[in-house]
Amino acid sequence: MKICFIGTGYVGLVSGVCFSDLGNNVICVDKDKDKLSRLKNGDIPIFEPGLSELVKKNLSAGRLSFSDDLISSINKSDIIFIAVGTPTAKDGVSADLSQVFSVVQLISKKIKSHKVIVTKSTVPIGTGDKIEKILNKNKKKGLFTIVSNPEFLREGEAIKDFKYPDRVVIGANDNKVIKIFNELYRPIVNKGAAFVPCSRRAAELIKYASNAFLATKISFINEIANLCEKVNVNVDDVALGIGLDKRIGSRFLRAGPAYGGSCFPKDTKALAKVGKNLNSPLSIVNSVINFNEKRKTYIEKNIYKILQNKIKNKIICFLGVTFKANTDDLRDSSAINLISKFIKKGAKINYYEPSGTKEILDKHKNVNYFDDIYLATKKVDLIIIHTEWDEFKNLNFSKIMNNNKKVIIYDLRNLYDSKYFNNKNSITYYSIGRPVNA
Ligand code: UDX
Repeated sequence: MKICFIGTGYVGLVSGVCFSDLGNNVICVDKDKDKLSRLKNGDIPIFEPGLSELVKKNLSAGRLSFSDDLISSINKSDIIFIAVGTPTAKDGVSADLSQVFSVVQLISKKIKSHKVIVTKSTVPIGTGDKIEKILNKNKKKGLFTIVSNPEFLREGEAIKDFKYPDRVVIGANDNKVIKIFNELYRPIVNKGAAFVPCSRRAAELIKYASNAFLATKISFINEIANLCEKVNVNVDDVALGIGLDKRIGSRFLRAGPAYGGSCFPKDTKALAKVGKNLNSPLSIVNSVINFNEKRKTYIEKNIYKILQNKIKNKIICFLGVTFKANTDDLRDSSAINLISKFIKKGAKINYYEPSGTKEILDKHKNVNYFDDIYLATKKVDLIIIHTEWDEFKNLNFSKIMNNNKKVIIYDLRNLYDSKYFNNKNSITYYSIGRPVNA
């Protein structure tokens, strides 16, 4: 099929390239000419394992192209995916849809033949109806069908999540169009994904409800972890024991520092706002948001306790600063929040980050990036394991012990079993949701 993706951000680029890899002709459109010239050379501005190879493969196969010409790209395509950003608005909670509507205005003025217009970006419930109104106002009735096709891609796993999703959700009020998507997604459905046609509004809500539920699971296990610390229980045992119940499921039950990223924080707040505006408050989602905020302070306070409230001139090493492993994304990373607090209190920060240096951190005089774990962890007062990169799972502790008289480790991802340190006297190990000093 002939497809056009508007927006080559995280969702648009990954989805567009993956559709081209399924044999479709895809034009990825963006107004950023520099970004487009980098993409045309297979130079990928985002950190996504495997994406660069896929771009190069499909560019050379002639199935994938990049353009800044929105109109001609639209007119060459049958399906137009809107994948522009929907960041949090200035009110700090609702979704800013200005980019979506400016693209829709352009489309509405220029389409000449029937187009299927798809919202791929995460958009509030009812956005499809608003898009329909704009197009009707510009007398394009009958020349378009608006569909919601939310994505469930995780950063760092996006290609796998595209190719092997649990389900494909198609929100459309038109059976003819549903058939088109049946065809488009056939290679994925044939590999086992469920195909879920539903109303457009249901599809819009499914996206928000999915992210809100996943965030709820994470905050739930994080709250249970706090209780575990009080009752001498290992939260990993609890997560295993409850997760084996298929009604609960074991994924997204890893206790950690607080969820971050570009989606959970934004989408939970946007959903809560919709509930508030429609006088149907989402008290559970609100408590998840509040708990996650409080958790950041809880972790911060634990670190002050570990350092016996002596933070000035202490050297704290962060292993990993992104919001999770296998990404370079710092959005809502609890490490950024902690580091800014610590440097204000006079601490010195070393950091080692597998995805490379971070400008936002390097501008601080007391923050030093190291490209070697054992230099970063040399002569430090505290090592914080902040993300679960594979290379943090088998650290050479004898090397670390040789470089430090005594070592304190705060493992925010429970990569190690506390017992592992029982015979390592110069290491004091703290982690999440476990008996303290077990
Ligand atoms: C999420 C959703 O998973 C994805 O379906 C949606 O399309 C976009 O938002 P992403 O934000 O990329 O994906 O990352 P995810 O792997 O979901 O992790 C989100 C946050 O939760 C991270 O901070 C991560 O560290 C944290 N997390 C995740 C936990 O603390 N524990 C877990 O068990 C899983």
